[in-house]
Amino acid sequence: MRRNKAFVLGQPVGHSRSPMLHGYWLKKEGIDGSYERREVAPVDLDAFFAHFRDSGWVGGNVTVPHKTAVIPYLDRIDADAEAMGAVNTVYWEGDKLIGGNSDAIGFLGNIDELVPGWDRNAKRAVILGAGGATRAAAYGLLSRGLEVAICNRTLDKAKALAKHFGQGATAHPWDDYRALIADCDVLVNCTSLGMLNQPPLDVDLSNLKPGAVVYDVIYVPLETEFLKAAKARGHKTVDGLGMLLHQGVKGFSRWFEKTPEVTPELRQLLVDDIRAKTPGA
Ligand code: ATR
Repeated sequence: MRRNKAFVLGQPVGHSRSPMLHGYWLKKEGIDGSYERREVAPVDLDAFFAHFRDSGWVGGNVTVPHKTAVIPYLDRIDADAEAMGAVNTVYWEGDKLIGGNSDAIGFLGNIDELVPGWDRNAKRAVILGAGGATRAAAYGLLSRGLEVAICNRTLDKAKALAKHFGQGATAHPWDDYRALIADCDVLVNCTSLGMLNQPPLDVDLSNLKPGAVVYDVIYVPLETEFLKAAKARGHKTVDGLGMLLHQGVKGFSRWFEKTPEVTPELRQLLVDDIRAKTPGA
């Protein structure tokens, strides 16, 4: 059976910008393929995977709430998915269906592009939050040799992640961020605060080490209040849009056997879409 279509599987997926991203690359590369939304409820996952082999899928992306629920349907998960404890990309390896995770690659690709050389002398990072995004950020930062301090409102969740990652990762109560940021090279917001329709992330940056890079994984709005405050203090900032763009490269190249490029034109396409749909973004 000829396979030439990829999916984004989740609930909801109506807001996903992955179809725009992969649609752009398919057109640019002149590939006869498609990238389609599949909104599937947890109870319908069985049905989605029932005839998967004969469905024409080259693979796809997996998003909330299925990032761990898909694992039993796959032949195996790769080292990245294992390390992050979640799958965001499904792909074929011969006749085996594999679960991978390109979120850490996306996290790093974005900061590498926007702040080249950021990790040359970087030793310590502070991550705010202990949810799914933290797994990607922590795994990426640890892989570059940084120590990672995870501060979270619910300390037990930070502790569970620090235990999962082991050496180099530590867990802290939320309020410890004030002291920790005095000696950090990268500060990352991985909470949902600051996202459209959420309260802003209200943190005191007065103690932040001069020269620290400030990263927000949120991209709607493109510039959160947190990033604005960091920029006003003279810090280099990184928004979350590039993380989406860069995480997509790996999936696309696995499905369609061409490595696409993250270009300014592509970024602008998504920026325009976000601005059009989000007044003030
Ligand atoms: P994601 O998968 O996108 O990372 P998530 O798993 O829902 O999202 O995680 C959201 C993160 O934002 C959590 O760390 C959450 O803190 P708790 O673990 O204490 O719930 C954090 N968060 C959300 N609202 C918050 C708030 N009002 N104050 C502090 N942290 C908050």
